[in-house]
Amino acid sequence: MLQSIIWSDGVLQLLNQTLLPAKVEYISCRDWQTVAEAIRRLEVRGAPAIGAAAAFGLVLGARELITDKEKFWTGLTEIAAALRKTRPTAVNLFWAIDRMLLVASRYDQGTDPAIVVAALEDEAKAIAAEDKEVNKKISLYGAQLFTRDEYAVLTHCNAGALATVAFGTALGVIRQAWSEGKIKRVFVDETRPLLQGARLTAWELAQENIPVTLITDNMAGWVMKKGMVQAVLVGADRIARNGDVANKIGTYSVAVLAKEHGIPFFVAAPVSTFDFTIASGADIPIEERSADEVSSFGGIRVAPDGIDIFNPAFDVTPNEYITAIITEYGVLRPPYDQAIADLANSEKIK
Ligand code: MRU
Repeated sequence: MLQSIIWSDGVLQLLNQTLLPAKVEYISCRDWQTVAEAIRRLEVRGAPAIGAAAAFGLVLGARELITDKEKFWTGLTEIAAALRKTRPTAVNLFWAIDRMLLVASRYDQGTDPAIVVAALEDEAKAIAAEDKEVNKKISLYGAQLFTRDEYAVLTHCNAGALATVAFGTALGVIRQAWSEGKIKRVFVDETRPLLQGARLTAWELAQENIPVTLITDNMAGWVMKKGMVQAVLVGADRIARNGDVANKIGTYSVAVLAKEHGIPFFVAAPVSTFDFTIASGADIPIEERSADEVSSFGGIRVAPDGIDIFNPAFDVTPNEYITAIITEYGVLRPPYDQAIADLANSEKIK
């Protein structure tokens, strides 16, 4: 399995996901600006992967300031602020940066910056290592939801190894359930406009010989109507206290279709994707991206010049469409406000 993020010898290697599946190429990040640019351009993407990349970005930035004790603390705050501006929706980005700054804040300002940088590097490594473990746990809990053999599932976007440090969330569950013989086929929405489903999810699954059928986004309803899938599994970028879930644009439509067809709709996400500060999905900032992503396909313009374009990168699925949310601490069921409050108060996540 290819790794999206590798930290080696003080350099962050990011698998350039905009080139997949045609080319496997890593970007060597030696400064925080390259990391910020990679997040902005979706060269590294997926909520947990963005968080881990930003954590290492902060290490690279702090390292540049190591010889300047005067500027170290203000510089660190400025770099953190710049990294926060790269993408607005996935809360894992802010979670990881907050976690890094909390580590730095344990040192007083007279401390040798080299000591703080070493602590930051340890924390970024811990964030990456924990993500692997967390995804394994999510996968095991999620696979328990599949009791019937000969199951086909549908997924949207990419919540796989590429979107995380390893294994994946929704795709981790699928991998695990497949290895247990509980899933026989995965239907993958291509996921316009940037084709994370076609380019990344279909590729990840095909590499492991998991049977995959690629469909365009507008085919999902018909596939459900014909009884070709028995469950939907997706990841998340931010989950509000009431269980509303922001995920890749198109997820909401899939959830509505699933409900209409009586198909369970599962979300798999780590606790770092929950935003305990917001009451509902109405408070989730939705990224809007460049019009070019919609007006072109494969680099070729397909829309008339000058046409108005709306390009939200995410949507919010209201909690009533969600059958269960799979976390590393177990499976949450409605009513979500209670289940998520219990999770937030749980000793395990403190
Ligand atoms: O714009 P992207 O490709 O970063 O969007 C990714 C998604 O929406 C994923 O489903 C989500 O981040 C979960 S990844 C485990």
